[in-house]
Amino acid sequence: MAVSIKSEREIELMRESGRILSIVHTELAKMIRPGISTLDIDKRCYEIIRDFGCVPSFLNYQGYPASVCVSVNDEVVHGIPSKHHILKDGDIVSLDAGVIYKGYHSDAARTVTVGEVSPEWKRLIEVTKQSFFEGIKFAKPGYRIGDISGAIQDYAESFGYSLVRELVGHGVGRELHEDPQVPNFRTKRKGIRLEPGMTLAIEPMVNMGHYEVNWLDDGWTVVTADGSPSAHYENTVLITNGEPELLTIERN
Ligand code: MF3
Ligand code: CO
Repeated sequence: MAVSIKSEREIELMRESGRILSIVHTELAKMIRPGISTLDIDKRCYEIIRDFGCVPSFLNYQGYPASVCVSVNDEVVHGIPSKHHILKDGDIVSLDAGVIYKGYHSDAARTVTVGEVSPEWKRLIEVTKQSFFEGIKFAKPGYRIGDISGAIQDYAESFGYSLVRELVGHGVGRELHEDPQVPNFRTKRKGIRLEPGMTLAIEPMVNMGHYEVNWLDDGWTVVTADGSPSAHYENTVLITNGEPELLTIERN
């Protein structure tokens, strides 16, 4: 599939989709505390998106049963919300959600803390977030996808962390997952050249230990193979003629 270049009209719809998603993340972060279940988060996420007249991108996507992926500690991504999974003091929780507004998807993830989290785990969250910002320094015309990938990798690895190999970022728009793939590590191919109007979900998934992951028997939940904690940070990014525009960051 070719990489789609969004028209000005499509970009407006994606901006609105992203704006709503940024509010979803702000609201979900406020409710995070010890004692709530991961299903409580999913219910709230569904309600907020519905109240905007939108549809959660992930709900029923390839059979996924919830509006948000909630991945705790050694869970990397795609954790399924459950009333039996209660958050406890010291956990870190990755929240990944998407919104469909008038046919256009936005996709964003944050890792947040529950109560008092150890300095080591907090640093993992901060480095993961900063690796995204290192990557998007190259999210502009004149660079290739691989320049973003390499910058993310170099930054996170300089802290001794590793980048998950089996999952990657992606184009986003009319579909949740469009071309091109956006790896968080160097590959043999440098990838396509970036052009204005591309919309990319850039999403480093960083493990404190080794990058190897396993899939649980539920068919969704991805966990680190070595049991180390993992963090995730993702925004939907518009490539422009100049600096990239972050569509899923709340602006005042
Ligand atoms: N946010 C994920 C991604 O970035 C998609 C989640 S898969 C789903 O690709 F099934 F949970 F929707
Ligand atoms: Co994504």
